[in-house]
Amino acid sequence: MSLELPQVYRHHAICCAQQRPPGHPHGSCATSGAHPLWGRLSEQVQSRQLADVGVTASGCLGFCQAGPLMVVYPEGIWYQPRTAADIDEIVQSHFVEGLPVERLIVVPHL
Ligand code: FES
Repeated sequence: MSLELPQVYRHHAICCAQQRPPGHPHGSCATSGAHPLWGRLSEQVQSRQLADVGVTASGCLGFCQAGPLMVVYPEGIWYQPRTAADIDEIVQSHFVEGLPVERLIVVPHL
């Protein structure tokens, strides 16, 4: 059986905002600098009026050492942005032009 459901967002970015204490053995995206990046992402999406792009903060996505991590659906592309410029590039290239930013893609391994 297959379901045909409408796509709600053209792109939906799930952004790990998990915080763990400094020195925790798992690390966390927050201690890797995630929060300012996700703030920038939300600002950019709002200021560019990309109403069909969703940005949602999440808990741990399971690959903490690779953080800061975000995953974009429906493509299932995982990004590891480090700077505000990286975020701006993802917004312009991926969300506006439809071209994923290859240099920022990571492939987490289970
Ligand atoms: S803390 Fe972000 S993936 Fe685990």
